[in-house]
Amino acid sequence: MTPGFPSLRLRRTRAHDWSRRMHAETVLSPADLIWPLFIAEGKAYREPVATMPGVERLSVDLIVEAAREAADLGIPAVALFPNTAAAARSDDGREAVNPDNLMCRASRAIRDAGIDVGILTDVALDPYTDHGHDGLLSDDHRILNDETLEVLAAQAVNQARHGADIIAPSDMMDGRVGVIRTALEAEGFKDVQIMSYAAKYASAFYGPFRDAVGSGGRLVGDKKTYQMDPANAEEALREVALDIAEGADSVMVKPGLPYLDIVERVKSTFAVPIYAYQVSGEYAMMRMAMDAGILDRDRGMMEVLTAFKRAGCSAVLSYFARDAARLMHQGNRG
Ligand code: PBG
Repeated sequence: MTPGFPSLRLRRTRAHDWSRRMHAETVLSPADLIWPLFIAEGKAYREPVATMPGVERLSVDLIVEAAREAADLGIPAVALFPNTAAAARSDDGREAVNPDNLMCRASRAIRDAGIDVGILTDVALDPYTDHGHDGLLSDDHRILNDETLEVLAAQAVNQARHGADIIAPSDMMDGRVGVIRTALEAEGFKDVQIMSYAAKYASAFYGPFRDAVGSGGRLVGDKKTYQMDPANAEEALREVALDIAEGADSVMVKPGLPYLDIVERVKSTFAVPIYAYQVSGEYAMMRMAMDAGILDRDRGMMEVLTAFKRAGCSAVLSYFARDAARLMHQGNRG
């Protein structure tokens, strides 16, 4: 063998834990996590989401406790999603603009409790419509883009009025970010952020979420005329460019893990904060493998969350947020 070969041994820096820590290019912290929470009617009420082991729908009083726990753990923001009562769902989703809907009650309660946590609210009509779509439908079941925009703007203003810090439009209608930004400015909500679900794909991985908010069984058809085709990446860049031009403060890619190439492309193309949503199906898939003893719980969770950060995300929306933050507080990096 040639003397001195190999001259570079990359294993040297990996040989000890202290050295691996010192050379880590990416360090995950609780500040890299956003925790999605499902709201239910009732008081001191919690119910498991059957398709998402470890995830519960919580009544407003328990949402406040969860938000407090997030703040205590150093998780900067929670994302709220309502499981609207069946009687409040309608063809036009008008419950979305009700100042006393579950979203507004939960945000107000978190604000009133003085908890220092960001409140992210989803803008889309699907938890409020009896057909499960994110927009208004014509008689022949086509999505009415421009008519929907007016409702989304009113929904966003309603959320801002009741405590939302970050409006997150997930509906994928054309033009929504601009219309929402204009409405927020007009109503005096200059400091409310918009985090747009810019590259949101028509994905099979949303199944458990639709179960959690009760929209899945109602859904007529699919969402392929507004959510993106998983085959496309260039189009994601066009969506992001538009949303930035229309006034988004940050953008999101969704789902997460199967779309890290999109995260990377957005990150290398635009100077904008980027987030990813590790969605319900990704969580369920991992959780079920963990519960079956097939995937190591802590290591699997931390590896995937770190991958999001390595790809360029400022933070990740994840149903693992609380578990991961707890683990980090124990000094465990998985
Ligand atoms: C609503 C919305 C969805 C998700 C977030 N906001 C579902 C959908 O578009 O059908 C999915 C989140 C998840 O799967 O965890 N428009």
